[in-house]
Amino acid sequence: MAPPIAVIGMNDILPGEIARWQSLEGSFRETCARYGYREVRTPICEYVELFSRGIGGTTDIVQKEMYTFDDRGERTLALRPEGTASSVRAALEHAALSKEPVVRWCYLGPMFRAEKPAKGRFRQFHQVGAEVYGDGSAAADAECIELAVRFILSLGIKDFTVRLNSLGGEESRARFREALVAYFTPVREQLSPESQHRLERNPLRILDSKDPRDIPFKAAAPSILDALTDDDRAHFAQVRALLDALEVPYAVDPTLVRGLDYYTRTVFEVVDTSGSLGAQDALGGGGRYDKLFSELGADAPVPAFGFALGIERLLLAAPEPVQPRGFCVAVVAAAKSSDLPVTGAAMALARDLRARGVTAHVDTRFHSMKSQFRRADDQGAAFVLILGGSEVEAGEVTVKDMATGAQSRLARAQAIDTVVAARPA
Ligand code: HAM
Repeated sequence: MAPPIAVIGMNDILPGEIARWQSLEGSFRETCARYGYREVRTPICEYVELFSRGIGGTTDIVQKEMYTFDDRGERTLALRPEGTASSVRAALEHAALSKEPVVRWCYLGPMFRAEKPAKGRFRQFHQVGAEVYGDGSAAADAECIELAVRFILSLGIKDFTVRLNSLGGEESRARFREALVAYFTPVREQLSPESQHRLERNPLRILDSKDPRDIPFKAAAPSILDALTDDDRAHFAQVRALLDALEVPYAVDPTLVRGLDYYTRTVFEVVDTSGSLGAQDALGGGGRYDKLFSELGADAPVPAFGFALGIERLLLAAPEPVQPRGFCVAVVAAAKSSDLPVTGAAMALARDLRARGVTAHVDTRFHSMKSQFRRADDQGAAFVLILGGSEVEAGEVTVKDMATGAQSRLARAQAIDTVVAARPA
């Protein structure tokens, strides 16, 4: 029988890669804390209606990409394709806004979309995200975009652009919809079947199409920025002015519509420009979604803004840091595995070193001394602590400095102190 393999598009993250993940996660938590965002953890699956209502029934995510399954015949669940809908659900369910007027939450974790796997595109991928609830100001938009940008910069990523657009509120959207229908209807037959369908249900989605049949028509399509109401126009102008004040560079791109339906007013996307990501060049994106709370059942509207970034893509774009090997030692027993007083003493010595904060390896197979030394060398041990029958009897340890080859026999406590003192701060 062939050995088992992981589900296509779902990756193992191996110990050799984990340091970069943990460092990125640490930077994200640190950056968020500085902006007053607190971490929330929601379940990885929800009742499917949360996403179909929240993200939008005409989006690719809901139509084609959700992993749904029956909860033992009771209700249909979906693995979360993103974090925003879950976060809003949790904020509503726990009345987060009754405890503070403005809620700032962040999260990180796996998301699931049944997309065609490619470089930077997976079926289980990971996002970091941040959301702010209860503040409809342009300042909230600008601060949240700035957070995303500072975090990306903290990873050493320099080659990226922030694309910025406004999708307006309800009135602007209705005007834009009309303009789009007027523009696309005469060429309807030349559009992809999917966009013909979108023309009736959600014409804005046509602008998100990557189908070659739609591209030529997209280029000359009306601009949303011409359809904005005075209020929406003023909000967008303020966001731009604040980003200028915060020295966050951006490029206004009226074709940016994003792949989720909940957005109103400001939207943005951060695109890698180094070429290291190939076709999947969006590091992340987000925007304002002032109607989502009401759509999910809130009594009163709650303004909201947020973003999410793909961790795998950030790691592809970030420079590879030089990982210094951590300080460690090895305890070697000059004994066979059956020689319990000696092997037991070796394990107890390692225990005491660990209790003092030292990484101590023991090759618990207790093969020959030669083999234990070879292993210690491979692990990069700075010191090898040797215990044989005579050392155990005398309460001593032979300490070998692997860099100089110098070897000395010390009292057990002194041997521990020597190693602890040699550990870099
Ligand atoms: P999104 O644009 O769908 O937005 O996803 C954000 C980022 O997640 C993408 O730019 C990409 O880096 C990463 N991503 C998405 N799908 C995949 C995939 N299949 N494989 C690898 N990475 C992927 C959202 O999810 C919104 N919830 C963002 C948001 C938060 N808007 C407001 N608040």
